[in-house]
Amino acid sequence: MQKIKSVTEAEVAGKRVLVRVDFNVPLKDGAVANDLRIRTVLPTLDYLHAAGAATVIILTSLGRPEGKVVESLRLAPVEARLRELTTVPFEMRENLRFDPREEANDLGLAQELASLGDVYVNEAFADSHRAHASIAGVPKLLPSYAGLRFMEEVTKLTAALTPPAGSVAVIGGAKFETKVPLIQKLLSLYAEVLLGGALANDVIKARGLPFGGSLVSATPVPPAIAADERLVVPTDAVFAEIGSNAERSGSVVDIRKNESLIDIGPQTAALWSGKISTAPFVLWNGPLGMYEQGYAEGTEALARALTQSTGTAVVGGGDTAAAVEKYKFDPQKVFVSTGGGAMLQFLADGTLPGIEALRASAV
Ligand code: 3PG
Repeated sequence: MQKIKSVTEAEVAGKRVLVRVDFNVPLKDGAVANDLRIRTVLPTLDYLHAAGAATVIILTSLGRPEGKVVESLRLAPVEARLRELTTVPFEMRENLRFDPREEANDLGLAQELASLGDVYVNEAFADSHRAHASIAGVPKLLPSYAGLRFMEEVTKLTAALTPPAGSVAVIGGAKFETKVPLIQKLLSLYAEVLLGGALANDVIKARGLPFGGSLVSATPVPPAIAADERLVVPTDAVFAEIGSNAERSGSVVDIRKNESLIDIGPQTAALWSGKISTAPFVLWNGPLGMYEQGYAEGTEALARALTQSTGTAVVGGGDTAAAVEKYKFDPQKVFVSTGGGAMLQFLADGTLPGIEALRASAV
């Protein structure tokens, strides 16, 4: 299979370079609330500048404006943050998704974008599961390369598909039915797969245990998966009483009809932290509780254990990355992927539309 080419193989001196990034970052009060995705592209910008690129033109999407101009999704705060972080001169185009042709992978838009540059660099790993014009269309028209961070994402996530014996995967979030191929694959590669979030509710239900009023998918978990003992669900949990603020923790099997499961419990957090501390490698995507609603304790306990572990790890997904970044860690040992959905799709399929576009590029 043809390998993707790194930006270090591109001739950029005197050239106009289009850099597609994924600056789909959280905003709060008109400012960037988490700049991880912005910081990760700085080495590529430095590289292009040092290699003599004439112009660097940055392309990104932000949020889901659905092909219309949405004032709150303009890029001004994102551009301002990048200017604080780099002295490399650049131009930034407005939010690509204001144009409906971006998500439609329209050839006309790809041609317009390609006409702005001589060389294309994909530094948007986190958006490369989307076959959009700026990801899948432009590489058909320009010599195209992967950014430094993109290369690192592919290397680290490829290594996560051949983990050492005894490695542990942790998957949180919801919609089990969309994650069946991924979970099957992880069960074939990892010693154990620890499941949190609403995914765990689906397995608890499939195992015939009570699940109260917890959020579950309409599609049942395939019985062969539910029967695999290496698919581990919490034994205790935090329950919230539906329609009130009351909450308590207890054994998972003691959930009441009017309660829903909102986080892993303290015993599970301690047990899973122990597993993570001794595993040679940990792969983790997705929070273990309703993180955005403030039920972060289980996720943060695991994040603490992971950052103190002697093994190595790859983590991804916005909430998981934010939890891990609350603690000090050695970036040589813990790789925080910028990808959420892109990370999961790469693990399930071993490739992404953006990677295939670079492979087929007109270099
Ligand atoms: C992400 O945050 O996962 C990417 O930026 C893709 O966002 P999307 O789900 O809106 O395409």
